[in-house]
Amino acid sequence: MQLLCDKVALITGAARGIGRAIAEIFAAHGAHIVVTDILEEEAYAVAAAITAAGHPRAIARRLDVSDPQAVQAAIEVAAEEFGRLDILVNNAGVLRPHLILEMPLEDWELTFQVNVRGMFLCSQAAARQMIRQGRGGCIISIASACAKKADRALGAYAASKAAMLALTRVLALELGEYGIRVNAILPGATDTQMLRDVTDAIPGMLDALRAKSVLGRIATPQDQANAALFLASDLAAHITGEGLVVSGGEFMDT
Ligand SMILES: NC(=O)c1ccc[n+]([C@@H]2O[C@H](COP(=O)([O-])OP(=O)(O)OC[C@H]3O[C@@H](n4cnc5c(N)ncnc54)[C@H](O)[C@@H]3O)[C@@H](O)[C@H]2O)c1
Repeated sequence: MQLLCDKVALITGAARGIGRAIAEIFAAHGAHIVVTDILEEEAYAVAAAITAAGHPRAIARRLDVSDPQAVQAAIEVAAEEFGRLDILVNNAGVLRPHLILEMPLEDWELTFQVNVRGMFLCSQAAARQMIRQGRGGCIISIASACAKKADRALGAYAASKAAMLALTRVLALELGEYGIRVNAILPGATDTQMLRDVTDAIPGMLDALRAKSVLGRIATPQDQANAALFLASDLAAHITGEGLVVSGGEFMDT
């Protein structure tokens, strides 16, 4: 069964990792995809691979989510190429780990520029487009389980992800009347370049993270993409304003 037949989805940061896995599974479920990233060549390669696999058409665009003009242009591309936009996935993100006492201001600001300003700009532009279309829509943001816990050296990242969760709830509240659902996914440690950049620098960290999951493994990008597929589909038609933790039980609410 195809869960996203003929839907149009724009995914940010989709050149690799979790974003790429989301683009691939959405396409396999019948969606047309706008693959966006600052990594232009890689984004085009992802779109080409999706189309070559025989799925509905995928196109790619370079997009820095912190640039308002570029965001507006990307949303317009989706509408021009595919006639509308049904789903936005705010996946683009950066992680610059530093202890608070050593945090360079530029890394603090970059983290908020991409993770929070990017989510705000893309959600605002996508919501305006969805409201013009008059047929509802869906916004999913990839936050982090870090939003809900304290990890050393993740001050900027955790604060930005908590802001994304707060923004998810306000967006859900303000956009519900237009039939637009807004949810977040809170991944635990997931095997991507972002995680490898951290774990490669700290011997033993990957094993320590693995041990924290009650299921005994690190999440795959596909684990996160499966959650996104569910939230984007009509199976989640009455779910909005929520944050779904996908962490193999690494983090449980008390
Ligand atoms: N990997 C993990 O353990 C983990 C855990 C929790 C949350 N997340 C979140 O998942 C999302 C995807 O991360 P990932 O693990 O796949 O990492 P990744 O580094 O592999 O992918 C992130 C993508 O975002 C893109 N990007 C960075 N800055 C951008 C910008 N300004 N505009 C557009 N694109 C930009 C990068 O080029 C990259 O392709 C991020 O929001 C991340 O914070 C990851």
